[in-house]
Amino acid sequence: MTTLDGPPAEFGSPYRLLSTAVTPRPIGWISTRSPEGVDNLAPYSFFNVVAVEPPVVMFAPVGSRDLKDTPQNVKTTEQFVVNTVTRDLVEQMNATSATLPVGESEFDHVDIERAESVVVEPPRVAAAKVAFECELYEWIEVGGSVLILGEVVYAHVDDEVLTEGKLDIEKLDTVGRLAGSQYASTVDRFSIERPE
Ligand SMILES: Cc1cc2nc3c(=O)[nH]c(=O)nc-3n(C[C@H](O)[C@H](O)[C@H](O)COP(=O)(O)O)c2cc1C
Repeated sequence: MTTLDGPPAEFGSPYRLLSTAVTPRPIGWISTRSPEGVDNLAPYSFFNVVAVEPPVVMFAPVGSRDLKDTPQNVKTTEQFVVNTVTRDLVEQMNATSATLPVGESEFDHVDIERAESVVVEPPRVAAAKVAFECELYEWIEVGGSVLILGEVVYAHVDDEVLTEGKLDIEKLDTVGRLAGSQYASTVDRFSIERPE
C-alpha cells in the first residue's frame, strides 16, 4: 500500500488515478439552454446526489481551460436538466460528448428527440426514463473545476420503470462509467442485507 502525500505522479495523472479508482460512476446527462436559445447536451460522470431535503444533485465540469458550454449556460441561466443514462441510450450519450462549436446543439448533431420541461427552459431527452429539472442551488469553484449543485424542482419518470408507482431498479438499466472509454451495465446484480 502506498500512501499519497503529494502529487501522485508515479500513478499517472491525478485525473487518471482518481477517475479509475472512483468507479463505477453514475452519469448525469445534462441539458442546458444558452441565452441565445441553443440547446446543449453533454455527459458528466462526476455526478451524484448531495441531499434529499431539499433534493439536491451535483455535477462537476473539470479542467482549467475556458468553461465548457454546460457550466457556461448554468452560470448565466441557473437552470439545467439531468437525464438518466440507461443501456439503450449509451451510444447517443457518448456521441454528445463531442466538442461542438458554441452555436451547434448536440440534440441536433446526434439527432436526439427533445421533450419540453415543465418548470425550467432547457428541454429533456425524450427517451430518458428519468429526468430531473434543476435550478442552480450553489456554484462552488474548486481549483480549475466547478462543483455545480442543483435543486430538483420537477421529476419525470417513465411509467415503464415504475412498479406500483415507485421507481423500480429492476426495470431501470442504468449504466456507470469506468475508466476511459469503459462502461459497466448493471445487469449483474446481487442482494446483501445490511446489519441492524
Ligand atoms: C461518460 C462521460 C462522462 C464525462 N464526465 C465528465 C465530467 O464529469 N466532467 C467533465 O468536465 N467532463 C466530462 N466528460 C467530458 C464532457 O462530456 C465533454 O468535455 C463535453 O464536450 C462537454 O460538453 P459541453 O462543453 O457542451 O458542456 C465526460 C464524457 C463522457 C463521455
